[in-house]
Amino acid sequence: MNILFVADVFGVPGRRVVEDRLPGLRDDLSIDFCVVNGENAADGAGITPRLAERLLAAGADAITLGNHVWRRSEIGPYLAEADRVIRPANVASGSPGRGLVVVPAADGTPVAVLNLLGQLFLNTPVGPFEIVDDLVEEARRSAQVVLVDFHAEATSEKVAVARWLDGRVTAVIGTHTHIQTSDARVLPGGTAAITDAGMTGPHDSVIGVEADLAIRRMRTGMPVRFRPAEGDVRLEGVLVACGEDGRATSCEPVRVSA
Ligand SMILES: [Fe+2]
Repeated sequence: MNILFVADVFGVPGRRVVEDRLPGLRDDLSIDFCVVNGENAADGAGITPRLAERLLAAGADAITLGNHVWRRSEIGPYLAEADRVIRPANVASGSPGRGLVVVPAADGTPVAVLNLLGQLFLNTPVGPFEIVDDLVEEARRSAQVVLVDFHAEATSEKVAVARWLDGRVTAVIGTHTHIQTSDARVLPGGTAAITDAGMTGPHDSVIGVEADLAIRRMRTGMPVRFRPAEGDVRLEGVLVACGEDGRATSCEPVRVSA
C-alpha cells in the first residue's frame, strides 16, 4: 500500500496547491491512502469545517490537526461529529472530537490514523508517552496499518516517539515545525519515520508567515497581525510504502512546486 502524508497546509496558498496537485499526485504515485495535516489551513492557524471539507474533497482520506486546533470556535461541534477529521488525542479530557480514527483505504483495507501532540514547548495537558501505548493497542485491534501524526516542536521528542513505536506502527510522521528534515527512513522494526514532513504552503516566508511581519514581532515584542506569505508555494510531505502486515518498506520525502 502506498500512503501519502501531506505536511501542514498553510493558509490559502497551501489549500490551493492541495486542490491543484493532490488529485494528480494520487494517480501518479498510485496512492491508496492520504493523510493531510490541516491545522494551519485557516489563514495559518486552525481550520474551519468548510476548509476541512475542501481538503477531503481534494483527496484527503483523513485530516489531522495540532496545537492550533481550537483557534476557530466552529471546529468543536464539527469535530464532535467528524469521522475523518481528528484532533490530537492528548488535549484536555472532555474536549470534542477524537484522536484516533479508522478509515478504509481505496481497496477497503482499514487504516488507523492517530494524532498526538508533543509536550516540549507546547504546554500539552497530557504527555504523549502517558497515552500512546493504549492508543496504539486500540488502533491495532482494528487495523494492521497504523499511521501516527506526531505534532511536536522538539526534534529529540519526535525521534524518541518514533523509536518507542518502532515495530508497532507503520509510520510516525513529525509535523508542526514546517521545515522538512533529511531523515526520512524505515527504522529497524519496520516503522517509517521523519522528524518533520515540512509544510504545504508558501516557503518564501518564516514558516508560512510573511517574513517582514514575523521578524517585526520578534524584534519588537509588539503584537503584529500575521498574514500568510505567497511566494515559493510547495506541497511537501512523505511517501510511505508498506505491506499488508503494516510494516513499512520505504519512506521518501515529497516536495512538489505549485
Ligand atoms: Fe502546529
